[in-house]
Amino acid sequence: MEQLVGIDRINLYIPPQYIEMEELAKARGVDPAKFTIGIGQNQMAVTDAMQDIVVLAINAAAPIVKDQDRELIDQVIVATESAFDYSKAASTYVHEALKINPFAKSYEVKEACYAGTAALQSAADYVRLRPDRKVLVIMTDIARYGLNTGGESTQGAGAIAMLITANPAILAIEQESIGFTNNQFDFWRPQYADYPMVEGRFSTQLYNQTFIEVMEEASRRLPESVGSIEALAFHLPFTKMGRKAIKAYRDHLVDKEGSQVILSKLDQWEEHYDAGTIFSRHVGNIYTGSLYLCLLSLLINDRNLSAGDHVGLFSYGSGAVAELLFGQLQPGYQDAIEIRALQDLFGDRQKLSIQEYEEIYQEKLTQSDEKVEYPVTVEAGRFYLAEIDHHRRYYRQAPQ
Ligand code: HMG
Repeated sequence: MEQLVGIDRINLYIPPQYIEMEELAKARGVDPAKFTIGIGQNQMAVTDAMQDIVVLAINAAAPIVKDQDRELIDQVIVATESAFDYSKAASTYVHEALKINPFAKSYEVKEACYAGTAALQSAADYVRLRPDRKVLVIMTDIARYGLNTGGESTQGAGAIAMLITANPAILAIEQESIGFTNNQFDFWRPQYADYPMVEGRFSTQLYNQTFIEVMEEASRRLPESVGSIEALAFHLPFTKMGRKAIKAYRDHLVDKEGSQVILSKLDQWEEHYDAGTIFSRHVGNIYTGSLYLCLLSLLINDRNLSAGDHVGLFSYGSGAVAELLFGQLQPGYQDAIEIRALQDLFGDRQKLSIQEYEEIYQEKLTQSDEKVEYPVTVEAGRFYLAEIDHHRRYYRQAPQ
C-alpha cells in the first residue's frame, strides 16, 4: 500500500493589529463597497517594524513543534518573498528558537507566492523516501505595496507553519500534481525597490489564464484526480480572486464539447468557496501562506467536508509559477487543529486607526553599527525581536 505523507499539523500566526477596510476606503476617498464587495476584504492585518517575518514564522511554528519532534525534524524550510537578508535564511533563526536538533538543515525558498508550495512538495518528497523523519515548513510574509497605491487594499501579513510527516493527521498529499511556468512580469520586486512593481489588472488576468491552463492539463493527464476534488482551495491575494478564476474558466468552457463534467465540478467548488475565504477576508494577502490560509479556513469552517473527501489546492505565484495539488482529508482532521487558539488569535487583535497604521507603516528598524534593544510587544510566551546588535537580529521568548 502507498505510504501516506502530508500535513500532520498546521498553524497560523498573524500580527496582533489590524485595520478596517471600510475605514481605509473612507480615508482614500473610495466607496467602501469596492473593498468589501469588489475585492472582498473586510479587515487587513498590519505589522509594526519589530514584527518581522521571523517573529511571524517562529510564533506560527512554536505551537506545532512538540518535544518528540525536535530530534525527528531533518529540515526547516522557510518560504518567503519578504526576506530582510539576501544570504542568511530566515529558517536559521527559527531552527534556533525552536531548539530543533543541530543536524537538521535549514534554508529558504523563493518564487513569489508559489514558494510555499515548492517547500511543501520538497518536504513531502523527502518524507516519502524517509517515512520516519519529519520536515517543518513555514510560509511567512509581509505584503506591502506602499501607502495610497493601487495595491494597498490587498496587503496583509502572517505566517503558516506545517509539520510534514508520514501518516499525517490532517491532509495526505498525492504524489502526482500539475506544475506550470510562464516567464511574465505581472508582479516582481527588483532588489533596489522597497515595494513590488505590479501590473494589477494584468496580474489578475494572468492568474485566470494560468488557472485555465493548469486545469486543462490536469483534466488531460489526471482526470480521475480532478474529478474527485470535492472542494478547491485557492491562492487568495484577495478573496474575490478565486471566484474570478472560476468564472474565467466557465466562460472559456462555454459551448465547448464535452465540458459538462468540469462545469459541474466548478459549480461544486463554488458551493464550498465562501468557507475557504473567511480567514483571508480578515487578514489580507500573506503571499506564500495565502493558499494555506484558504485551506485552513476550509478545514475549520466548511461543514460540508468530511474525512475521506478530496481537496484540490491551486497554488499561484507571480512571475509566474503555478501548481495544482491533490489531497485527501484524514479521519479526525479537525481535532488535529488548535481551533480555540486560532479563535483567540483573531479575538485578541487590536484595531488601529488609519492614522496609527500610517505611522506604523513608516517605522524602520535600526541600520546602524550599534546595539538597539526592543521592548516586548507580544503576549506572554510568544517570540519577539529582542535586539539588533551590529546588524545581527536576536529573538527571545516573552516570559510566560
Ligand atoms: P483596482 O484598480 O483598485 O480595482 O485594482 P478595480 O477597478 O479592478 O476594481 C476591483 C473590483 O471592485 C472590480 O470587480 C470592480 O468592479 C469592483 P471585478 O470587475 O474585478 O469583479 N468595484 C466595486 N464593487 C462594488 N462596489 C463598488 C465598486 N467599485 C469597484 N463601489 C487590484 C484591484 C486587485 C488589481 C489591485 O488592488 C492590485 O493591483 N493588487 C495587487 C496585485 C494582486 O493582488 N493581483 C492578484 C493576482 S496576482 C497574485 O495573486 C500574486 C500575488 O499574490 C503576488 C505573489 O505571487 O507573490 C499578488
